[in-house]
Amino acid sequence: MNIPKSLEMQNRAMLRIPGMTQLLSKRPDMFSSGVWPGYYSRAKGVEIWDLDGNRYIDMSIAGIGANILGYTDPDVDAAVIEAIQNGNSSSLNCMEEVELADLLCEIHPWAEMARFARTGGESMAIAVRIARAYTGRDKIAFCGYHGWHDWYLSANLGTENALGEHLLTGLNPTGVPKGLTGTAIPFRYNHLEELQAIVEKNRKDIAAIIMEPIRNVQPQPGFLEGVRALADEIGAVFIIDEISAAFRMNSGGAHLVFGILPDVAVFSKALGNGYPIAAVIGKSQVMETAQSTFISSTMWTERIGPTAALATIKKHKSVDAGKHLMTIGKQVQDGWARLAKKNGLNINIGGIPPLSHFSFEYDNALTMKALFVQLMLDFGFLASTLFYAMYAHKTEHVEQYLHAVDEVFATISDANQTGDLEKRLKGKPASAGFKRLT
Ligand SMILES: Cc1ncc(COP(=O)(O)O)c(C=O)c1O
Repeated sequence: MNIPKSLEMQNRAMLRIPGMTQLLSKRPDMFSSGVWPGYYSRAKGVEIWDLDGNRYIDMSIAGIGANILGYTDPDVDAAVIEAIQNGNSSSLNCMEEVELADLLCEIHPWAEMARFARTGGESMAIAVRIARAYTGRDKIAFCGYHGWHDWYLSANLGTENALGEHLLTGLNPTGVPKGLTGTAIPFRYNHLEELQAIVEKNRKDIAAIIMEPIRNVQPQPGFLEGVRALADEIGAVFIIDEISAAFRMNSGGAHLVFGILPDVAVFSKALGNGYPIAAVIGKSQVMETAQSTFISSTMWTERIGPTAALATIKKHKSVDAGKHLMTIGKQVQDGWARLAKKNGLNINIGGIPPLSHFSFEYDNALTMKALFVQLMLDFGFLASTLFYAMYAHKTEHVEQYLHAVDEVFATISDANQTGDLEKRLKGKPASAGFKRLT
């Protein structure tokens, strides 16, 4: 692939935008700097065109999980266009947010009220504020990644890299008030004993226990129930972060699949098929506390977000998208396993099928990842060690993709044996986590 315009835009962006982009996961260095196009001009279904007119099938991160149905979904876009034509913003509120509150509480019958925002991290900050206001306590016990806000990054204050165990390494809490030290305490998924130890020490201070329902591995029997019971025991708010997990396996929160009921659940990403919308839903007793503190923002009232969410959920349900996403994700995971074995490569596969990932189990894994990205681009695929399924993915896309993966795994295996992996790279090895861009 020839990408001069894309590379020029990256260089231009680097001079004007610290870190080049607003999202770590869309930085070219997370794939392979020099070969990853980084910018798009158009996207439709599962196809993306870069600035140089190259067309790719996207078998990578699906807008990092936002575009659950596919790009420019005709039904969601039609609803959004109508909303724009009728006025996206005015001095009065839009009724779509009331309809969305009703619909989310209908899908999650344990919840009675909802607040809306536009991004995942900010909606988690809202949930944390509500929990702190409700309990009058400060500390948060959490597991997993929940965004960029002070409450979360403070976990790395005074520690080497407490968050390194929770999706992203290298997050520096510079700029986060030192006074927050010790207020966010991490525990690992399926390690109930770690949460028990935190609860033992901080029983009267914990406002909330926060976790994703599932991410990389299945919950062990009793783990989710144990977390629920500990929250009840100490009177903490149990918050389930559904920002990534929801709408992958079913048309709602993944906690419904596991039969575990939180006090508050938080949604974003897939909720609007790429249009900004986030929801905090919960029991009215807890949610009402939002009125005793101040949680308010102009752009949370615009109309596109809730309109897109209503259309996305409606379509998701009517086509049973969760079932399709599970099938597609499983096909990809099975294909990775079969082709790695065939080509003598040692890889580790994880994630629920619609949010799949694999890692090369070698010391030079990041060089291998970059070579995988580079060679898949040559076959016309945007691909990485993550695969997020979209409803627009069909079995034939997976078949074409796995055909290319077979050839690419063979080349990587060969390069690994001959020891010239590095030499075959046109770009740079992938970055592992957050690092300063030069
Ligand atoms: C579980 C979880 N929580 C929170 C966030 C932050 O959401 P956003 O990037 O929309 O701020 C993410 C993003 O990846 C996430 O996966």
